[in-house]
Amino acid sequence: MNLPKIVRITEVGPRDGLQNESQNLATADKIALIRQLAAAGCKEIEITSFVHPKAIPNLADAAEVAAATADLPVTRFALIPNAMGYQRAHEACVDGITLVLSATDTHNRKNLNRSCQESINELAPLAARAKEDGLAARISISMVFGCPFEGNPGLDRILRLIDTMAYKGFGRIGLCDTIGIANPQQVFDWTSRIQREFSGLDLELHFHNTYGRGLANVMAGLEAGITRFDSCVGGLGGCPFAPGATGNVATEDLVSLLEESGVKTDLDVNSILAASDFLAGKLDKRLNSNIWQVHQAQRALATA
Ligand code: COA
Ligand code: ZN
Repeated sequence: MNLPKIVRITEVGPRDGLQNESQNLATADKIALIRQLAAAGCKEIEITSFVHPKAIPNLADAAEVAAATADLPVTRFALIPNAMGYQRAHEACVDGITLVLSATDTHNRKNLNRSCQESINELAPLAARAKEDGLAARISISMVFGCPFEGNPGLDRILRLIDTMAYKGFGRIGLCDTIGIANPQQVFDWTSRIQREFSGLDLELHFHNTYGRGLANVMAGLEAGITRFDSCVGGLGGCPFAPGATGNVATEDLVSLLEESGVKTDLDVNSILAASDFLAGKLDKRLNSNIWQVHQAQRALATA
């Protein structure tokens, strides 16, 4: 297979993973989780989001989480939906911003209360401000491969959106399969085409596992030459404004797949598993991660 030597993983557990949980994690536990992820080798962690606390009550403690993790040797990203979110994140001294919008107007309105075009108009100056303020910046496009309200947006729409973004100065663009509906052939074809059309972009992929295709889609992305992926400790995750969406590709499953295929990640799978154990204990639930479930079963056998 045509695999890269190294893949860079952005851990999104403290944001995507926690935003949709019925049980909120205490602020101190979020901070402990982020510290464990940093110790496991994560270089980029999306630690929270600066959105309206009514939209995502679980992440209302964003500023506290940012303040308590400032010493970590990682790039701490926060998800930003609008100018006020940028202001709050900047005041909280995060290291990077993940700007967000959807590929479809219906989801953008449900999620962000505005059209795609309105989001682009509001977010473009923030990418420029981030540069001036010395912050890392990426933009994540939700619903790229399918939307629960509008179906498949089609590659042409995505190409036009990326063209607009590239023109507005966005260099690092995330293609997010928010409802986990992409398939490997689509991922390979679309990412190959996007890379052919926009050679200078830093593309990344964000997969959910709703239909059990997350890792297969990662392989398709790798085969097409993508080397940046988001994943979530324990396989938590989901968007409260996207009905039916379930967890992200689990970080431990991704690391295990890549390392055993000879692709370096610089993440320690056992330390990620320990962070998943911590989460499972705090949330009192069984996690979706395959490797975590194998470890649970092995431990149960060993203590039987
Ligand atoms: N953080 C906190 N409060 C915010 C805010 C932000 N980023 N942006 C706006 N607000 C506040 C305003 O101050 C205003 O407060 P007031 O009513 O006390 O005056 C109120 O929200 C309404 O402002 P408005 O600009 O009209 O926002 P909105 O109601 O159109 O909401 C968003 C827009 C983007 C803030 C909201 O839809 C949101 O937070 N969405 C995020 C959803 C999400 O995180 N989804 C999952 C990740 S993709
Ligand atoms: Zn997601």
